[in-house]
Amino acid sequence: MSDEQRYTGLIERYRQWLPLAATTRAISLGEGATPLIRLHNIEQDLGGEHVLYVKFEGLNPTGSFKDRGMTVAVTQAVAEGSRAIICASTGNTSAAAAAYAARAGITAFVIIPEGKIALGKLAQAMAHGAVVMQIQGNFDLGMRLVREVAEHAPVAIVNSINPYRLQGQKTAAFEIVEALGRAPDYHCLPVGNAGNITAHWLGYSELAGEQLPALIPPGVDYPAPRRLITKRPHMLGFQAAGSAPFVAREMVDEPETVATAIRIGHPQSWQYAWSAQQESEGWFGAFEDAQILETQRYLAAREGVFCEPASAASLCGALAEIRDGRIRPGSTVVCTLTGHGLKDPDIAIRELSEPVLNVPAQLDAIAHAIQTRLA
Ligand code: F0G
Repeated sequence: MSDEQRYTGLIERYRQWLPLAATTRAISLGEGATPLIRLHNIEQDLGGEHVLYVKFEGLNPTGSFKDRGMTVAVTQAVAEGSRAIICASTGNTSAAAAAYAARAGITAFVIIPEGKIALGKLAQAMAHGAVVMQIQGNFDLGMRLVREVAEHAPVAIVNSINPYRLQGQKTAAFEIVEALGRAPDYHCLPVGNAGNITAHWLGYSELAGEQLPALIPPGVDYPAPRRLITKRPHMLGFQAAGSAPFVAREMVDEPETVATAIRIGHPQSWQYAWSAQQESEGWFGAFEDAQILETQRYLAAREGVFCEPASAASLCGALAEIRDGRIRPGSTVVCTLTGHGLKDPDIAIRELSEPVLNVPAQLDAIAHAIQTRLA
């Protein structure tokens, strides 16, 4: 198969709607084109009056949606001559930054909160050769340090305050509309730093023929909107109760949640996310850790889709709003599953699994276990 036929990532797929120069070489790992999976079993459990999908972003190359933003941010950073990138991260951004930096042959510096990132994400950053700096402090402090250090050091910030990150992440909305032939009625996302809900709103808005000037990178020749839809979805953002500044309507200084990916109290895209909520007539909600973990388990056991805890916040919110009737019967709902369940094996083993049976290595013992279970 020639390179023209082979899928080679979202920059080549969507280049004409991204603000990259035509000659810029894409730094790609084949990200994007993730499946939109219909939840037939869960729809039935809910009474069959809603159409429910998950967009499984855990199937990106490093296992999270961050790859969409990182391919564009690193491509642009390299085009501008950067030799190094930096980010603060709750884990997934650091994994993606490390992988795309390795691919580009540049250095990634990542700042993570000590003891508060999932094991798989730390393993990724280390495997890809990033310079990993653990701090005694949370993501919000790491973010402040990154902003300050980037003023003096020759490093490009690849957190979502980099407008090219949001440009890449908007393509998830493009894929959903192409798959459905329209926008969903509701789009549910977990919200941490609030970059992804902003990026999705940007994507849907451009598909509806509207530009969001505040999100356009400075000094670029910006492509015209795509105009594929007439109606944008209501954007619903869900947080963990211990880490829910959008529900509190103010910053939270000591965020806490088992969903470490969204353990963020001072979201950088605060204002943009409020605009998305208001313009879309959407809303924010928060759920206890136990409810989020229960949703993660339910989705894995009922549909065969394994996402990380933070990701389950989107479906947790959708299920609650459907049961409450705030998401109306007859609606089509898309929930973004931001990261793969394998990112956080500790949680899976501690919180989710059925007890493992200790069985003698003998035929009759195995047969007995099968009979007992199927009886
Ligand atoms: N879900 C997962 C799995 C995440 O890793 C993140 C953010 C979010 C949801 C929230 O997205 O920040 O755009 O609102 N993770 C960042 C990181 C902060 O450092 O990996 P957001």
